[in-house]
Amino acid sequence: MINAKITGVGGYIPEKVYDNAYMESIVDTSDEWILRRTGIKERHISADNEYTTDMAIIAGKRAIENAGLTPEEIDLILLATVTPDYFTPACSCIVQSNLGAVNAAAFDYNAACSGFVTGLTIAKQFIQTGTYKHVLVICADTLSKATDYKDRATCVLFGDAAGAAVVSASEEQGIISTDIGADGASGLAITSLAYRNDEEETEKRISHKKDTLWMAGQAVMKFAVKAMADASERVVEQAGLTWDDISLVIPHQANYRIVDSAIKRMGISNDKVFLNLEKYGNTSASCIPVALSQALEQGRIKKGDKIVLVGFGGGLTWGAALLEW
Ligand code: ACO
Repeated sequence: MINAKITGVGGYIPEKVYDNAYMESIVDTSDEWILRRTGIKERHISADNEYTTDMAIIAGKRAIENAGLTPEEIDLILLATVTPDYFTPACSCIVQSNLGAVNAAAFDYNAACSGFVTGLTIAKQFIQTGTYKHVLVICADTLSKATDYKDRATCVLFGDAAGAAVVSASEEQGIISTDIGADGASGLAITSLAYRNDEEETEKRISHKKDTLWMAGQAVMKFAVKAMADASERVVEQAGLTWDDISLVIPHQANYRIVDSAIKRMGISNDKVFLNLEKYGNTSASCIPVALSQALEQGRIKKGDKIVLVGFGGGLTWGAALLEW
């Protein structure tokens, strides 16, 4: 059996910052409320003329360099986004051209904030069947462009970023187990309309702009805690391991309370969890690959370590993966 292993990572965070003081100046909120309910202090926001593919290209380039490859060696580019530049062409095709990854097939997919683990799962299938050697998984979102900045219940949560990883065929263990899933019946808890002309949906948004995100926060929070804990348990069990074997968990960085409740359910200690949400907020699918890059830079992951990545998001969807580094 061919193994699929992450051989390179890269991230990109835009420069502009909206801190909690700025959020206080645009909606009826407070630094104290945001910190207590979410743990977020600031979020990074793309420039007006900076789009999802601009960020994806930088993160993708960094991941390819980090893997010690050339763009021509990439066989497939998978790109997770809910804020594409266009419906067509796919963001992955724009990225393919800009990177010079001329030999790569490319497609986008939408698993919202579960996008990174979903991408690792797809990449693993193509590698284990021997179809491809190097798959570039990119997650990029400009959620700020889909945020209703009059809606205090959502606008304090989101930021922009891109994160990427190269998944390669390897003789070493890599992605050991994954678990992805969906609860489509609860999907209307997070919506952003495309062509659907739904008056009731549009009315839900304070600005009545149909292309902004709307969310039933409490419902999502309840789903997230259970989905993250259960999926994580399943990947550990599938691998024939216990939590004692796991040195680090990198969760989707949505909200400190969600992460805290999920890890209590899993029965693991805080020091095994990597968090950066206070600086970036929820950047959709890129949260996990950006956090993974930073955890590596900070020496939190060493060769041979077993780590769990776990996310949840729109759909509603979830995904967990257990990796040996
Ligand atoms: N500042 C001050 N008050 C606020 C704010 C704010 N920014 N936002 C909401 N409130 C108020 C509400 O209006 C409500 O007031 P009321 O009691 O007078 O009606 C009160 O605070 C409590 O609101 P709740 O929604 O019950 O607050 P909750 O504790 O659930 O926290 C939050 C809200 C932070 C949104 C939480 O529900 C959450 O994090 N949910 C999960 C969101 C998430 O992670 N989504 C990820 C998916 S996104 C994607 O896939 C792209």
